[in-house]
Amino acid sequence: TEKNKKLIAGNWKMNGVQAALKEIEQIAAKVGDYADKGTFLICPPATLLAGARAVAGDALHIGAQDCHSATSGAFTGDISAQMIADLGGSFVIVGHSERREGHNESNEAVKAKAEAALEQGIKPIICCGETLEQREKGEAIGFVTQQIADSTPDRLSKDGEIAIAYEPIWAIGTGKTASADDVAEMHMALRKTLVDKFGDRGHTIEILYGGSVKPENANTLLHTQDVDGALVGGASLKAESFLGIVAAL
Ligand code: G3P
Repeated sequence: TEKNKKLIAGNWKMNGVQAALKEIEQIAAKVGDYADKGTFLICPPATLLAGARAVAGDALHIGAQDCHSATSGAFTGDISAQMIADLGGSFVIVGHSERREGHNESNEAVKAKAEAALEQGIKPIICCGETLEQREKGEAIGFVTQQIADSTPDRLSKDGEIAIAYEPIWAIGTGKTASADDVAEMHMALRKTLVDKFGDRGHTIEILYGGSVKPENANTLLHTQDVDGALVGGASLKAESFLGIVAAL
């Protein structure tokens, strides 16, 4: 299924101090021109959420890169979905492979975070992806579809309430991208998983591709079967390259 609008999201990871807000300002000034083709989002580090929201205007959403599953409490260093919503954030990335690996996040933990986001009216982008070893062993589809079956909320109360991002771990920050055929195959399998779990509403969930998306490959990836957008790391840090991806819509 082709959605009318694609979601183009930037994940800044642990990059950017206040001087980088000028990139967000430049992105915000241009994405309005593409409003009929896409929804646009930058997820800066938590320290820049308020500053980013202040310069982002109406055409650009701001989101966070993680949230805790609780609303508040004794969780030193964490931020809650309520805090993100309070700053005007409208999305949160959960279950990125860097958090699954570096912070031992299980599917169950990721699911709890996604549910916490929904409670605050924030749209979670739930990430999945296989290692190179799993792909070479032919285990990629089974592993990734199970991740998504187990990391998504039990119930959704409206269409398009969550998004999924398929990010093959071996394609993140490596300059390697999955082939269009492999992406199409995985996205089709993910779509089936979502429809099995959520019924027809599963068709309304955007499935993004992430992993070395850049202006040069964005056109092919964004027009691959069942790709509803992109989750962009490195190329989202500069307005010029993020807007180059947007221009490929
Ligand atoms: O979440 C986006 C990311 O993991 C992809 O990073 O730098 O390969 O675009 P990059």
